[in-house]
Amino acid sequence: MKHMADLNLDGRRVLIREDLNVPIADGVISSDARLVAAAPTLKMALDAGAGVLVMSHLGRPTEGEFDDQFSMAPVATRLGELIGRPVTLIKEWKQAAIVPGSIALLENVRFNVGEKSNDEALARDYAALCDVFVMDAFGTAHRAQASTHGVAQFAKEACAGPLLVSELDALEKALAAPRPPMVAIVGGSKVSTKLDVLEQLAEKCDALIVGGGIANTFLAAAGYPVGQSLCEHELLDTARRLMDKTRIPLPVDVVTAKQFSADAPAVTKLAAEVAEDDMILDIGPRAAATIAEQLKGAGTILWNGPVGVFEFDAFAKGTRAIAEAVADSDAFSLAGGGDTLAAIDAFGIGDRVSYISTGGGAFLEYVEGKTLPAVAILEDRAHN
Ligand code: 3PG
Repeated sequence: MKHMADLNLDGRRVLIREDLNVPIADGVISSDARLVAAAPTLKMALDAGAGVLVMSHLGRPTEGEFDDQFSMAPVATRLGELIGRPVTLIKEWKQAAIVPGSIALLENVRFNVGEKSNDEALARDYAALCDVFVMDAFGTAHRAQASTHGVAQFAKEACAGPLLVSELDALEKALAAPRPPMVAIVGGSKVSTKLDVLEQLAEKCDALIVGGGIANTFLAAAGYPVGQSLCEHELLDTARRLMDKTRIPLPVDVVTAKQFSADAPAVTKLAAEVAEDDMILDIGPRAAATIAEQLKGAGTILWNGPVGVFEFDAFAKGTRAIAEAVADSDAFSLAGGGDTLAAIDAFGIGDRVSYISTGGGAFLEYVEGKTLPAVAILEDRAHN
């Protein structure tokens, strides 16, 4: 796979696909983490003398229709602040011309008919805009779309940007040759949505820590009462099979409530004492301390998903304790997935995690062992 950093970009027209899909409400960006991560690539290309055109999707608008709610306008403004020069927003991509030394951003590629279906004509038109196509959008590398895959197939030259390269390096470091012991933390609500992740990690980890609704299914599989908690009873055999494969320590205590609400009184109890009308909404302090101890001795930590309903203060202590233990550990720590990043932000430990991935679905698909099509095409092009 070619790397942008190895190419001479001086005077060349460079089209860069980033994942600038950030949360925006009423025109205000609530987390600019993906823009912060993309900015160094754009600066690097400009400093190398390129003319830069950036493209990204934002949300999931209806194809073929402009919708202000999904406009890249706030992204262009914020990106300009981050790179220290204005970024022009190009509303009509067909009129985009890349001028040496300049930077512009195309309007949301998902307004374009044929983007999601990876239409060849659209991909060829994108490719014709540039001399070099740079794929830097790790967060969208699991999508085979015209702006991620098709354009890479037809551009004169295609390469990986530095952000994509560092994301892949971090994942490889954590998964291909992890420094032992390797401990993975997988939280979130359902086993069913993370089954492939759990299967893969069960093969690789010395310990697999489960949290959130996922832990409830494992508790039930081990014969503990889970009351009214979120639990997938149809997956109890699967959970038992995974427990046979690797060590999956279960929380000895939990925090419960009678309703799923921020102001429901929180009661800590032993996992064995959960009542018929209880809902488990967090791990308890003893479980958190045991996990923290395990993380202290880890060589590699992979973290995906909160272990409790951390959006509610009364049920945030478990996830906070995990976040702090990951931050304090000397292990190579890699965190990824939307909710995980929100937790890292909430507990302010971002600068103490070895690598924070910008990927949500792409991160999970990589961990599941799937091929990311927008990466595969860059590898194909380098070999053919
Ligand atoms: C993400 O937020 O995970 C990526 O930007 C991909 O977005 P998508 O799921 O809408 O393709």
